[in-house]
Amino acid sequence: MIVTTKELFAHAYGKYAIGAYNINNLEQTMGLFEGNVRSKAPFIVQLSKGARSYSHKLMLETLMTTADKIFPEAVFAVHLDHGDEETCMDCIKSGVYSSVMIDASMFPYEKNIEITKRVVDAAHAKGLVVEAELGQLKGIEEDVSAAEHVYTRPEEVIDFQARTGCDSLACAIGTSHGAFKFSGDQKLRFDILEEVQKKLPGFPLVMHGSSSVPPGEVARINAAGGAIKGAKGVDATQFRQAAKLGVTKINIDTDGRLVWTRVHREYFRDKPDQFDFRKPGKIFMKEYADFIYEKNCLLGSADQVDDARAYIQSQKK
Ligand code: G3H
Ligand code: 13P
Ligand code: ZN
Repeated sequence: MIVTTKELFAHAYGKYAIGAYNINNLEQTMGLFEGNVRSKAPFIVQLSKGARSYSHKLMLETLMTTADKIFPEAVFAVHLDHGDEETCMDCIKSGVYSSVMIDASMFPYEKNIEITKRVVDAAHAKGLVVEAELGQLKGIEEDVSAAEHVYTRPEEVIDFQARTGCDSLACAIGTSHGAFKFSGDQKLRFDILEEVQKKLPGFPLVMHGSSSVPPGEVARINAAGGAIKGAKGVDATQFRQAAKLGVTKINIDTDGRLVWTRVHREYFRDKPDQFDFRKPGKIFMKEYADFIYEKNCLLGSADQVDDARAYIQSQKK
């Protein structure tokens, strides 16, 4: 059942966070749905601009509607990750997406508001909901890059939400995208989340850049020929703390890529005579499903799907 992120957030707020997982292809789709169905978790499928050009945008939409038929137990949102205005408008027209992120965080405050508001108006007119971003994550986000963290300023959030009408807000608290998030100790600004929650009580917040980059996974990749040095991620035991502070959506992409890389490197290292990619592909689907299962347990979203479905259906009546 495809639902909006707003519906999912209304059920999750203050209790647990929903995993928002980026996928790019068939194998990730199968593993993602299997893992979420097995863990009985509501979830968010994230499709980035990069994913939409890697596997044609229509192919991804077809994957979503087909997965909905193959997995009737699944309760999920189809969400555009880090959209620009043009991509948001395209997704709003698609009839498959239920949610878009407009990322105009690289623009000055007033321009961010202007662009976000245009997307919100178009999305709401079609029954979709919108995530916006204030502040910037260090590192690369699609075409956007920032050399340093630009933390979300809690003093701006009330005005920003009121003037844009956005349905959720991505806050920059010190995470970054990719596998190299911290050079020293992890320093996440939970104080910012606390301040934002005080200003916008009950309003759903989003944490990007939340992969954990497990050292064991990186070690296996390197033992199988990889050369990933100095990788470090977010401590997943902090997900529950974030959820209590109003974070309802936690974005995870890099960790899934590490699963793919580990499975394929180990497979071809151990079986150098093989070239049927379906064999490691099948292993990946299972391993990715297991990974999703474990993440959902950490997020607190596991075992929530029946309650979430009943809640969402009761709100529609
Ligand atoms: O925020 C970035 C996401 O991890 C998506 O990455 O743009 O390489 O698909 P991508
Ligand atoms: P990671 O790179 O930490 O997985 O973050 C993904 C993300 O924020 C997608 O929007
Ligand atoms: Zn992101």
